[in-house]
Amino acid sequence: MDPVLPDHWRIIAMIIDTHAHYDDEQFDADREALLGMMQENGIGKIVNASAAISSWDSVIELTRRYPFVYGMIGVHPDEVGGLDEEKLFRMEQLLKEEKIVAGGEVGWDQESHDVQKKWFVRQLELAEKLGKPVNIHSRDAAADTMEIMREYGKRLRGIIHCYSYSPEMAAEYVKMGYSIGIGGVVTFKNGRKLKETVQEVPIESLVLETDCPYLSPEPNRGKRNSSLNLKYVAAAIAELKGITPEEVIQITSENAERIYGI
Ligand code: NI
Repeated sequence: MDPVLPDHWRIIAMIIDTHAHYDDEQFDADREALLGMMQENGIGKIVNASAAISSWDSVIELTRRYPFVYGMIGVHPDEVGGLDEEKLFRMEQLLKEEKIVAGGEVGWDQESHDVQKKWFVRQLELAEKLGKPVNIHSRDAAADTMEIMREYGKRLRGIIHCYSYSPEMAAEYVKMGYSIGIGGVVTFKNGRKLKETVQEVPIESLVLETDCPYLSPEPNRGKRNSSLNLKYVAAAIAELKGITPEEVIQITSENAERIYGI
């Protein structure tokens, strides 16, 4: 038996995974079986992110095949070298697809880099033009990302995915209207800063995410991640907030539905 959630939790709680990568080759062997067991295990909806241009077709295919899977179209900062005007035009067409609910993941990674900055801004502008929310990736680039977001992200909404900066900066994003994506790191012993962020940000501005196949929470740290592990993330947030896992799931799912319009 699962120690953290009661027997009836599946009935009252439907988890939304706001950032997953089921197009990743790590799921090639059992993708269909795994996605086939999500709904009976309390996973209500999954939003699959695009990491690279090469993932766009697979993401669209997943949203067509599974009623509960939605998608984002975007290019991760490590992959923007492959972008040009023609591909940006294709991105615009794909963002208009019915089940594509956000631009993502887009952002800034590790260091100041003119190419990353250019395409980060262009992708934010595209999302604004189409009225779509964005899913922001930012790693070791707190100040650079905030500077761009203050200028180009202020009329947008969305999620700061896999949040890894200070509680103070999270508060600033929340003030701008963004939500904070919380995943497996909140269960790690060395996840102190993220735990503080979870305590300080109102639950109405938190959403659950896996970033699977990466960042599996305890007790499955180091193994391939999937949305089935989000109950451990919900339980960790519940403990930090002093509420029940069911409340965490219910409120974060409402938040995700509101942001993505799903
Ligand atoms: Ni990701």
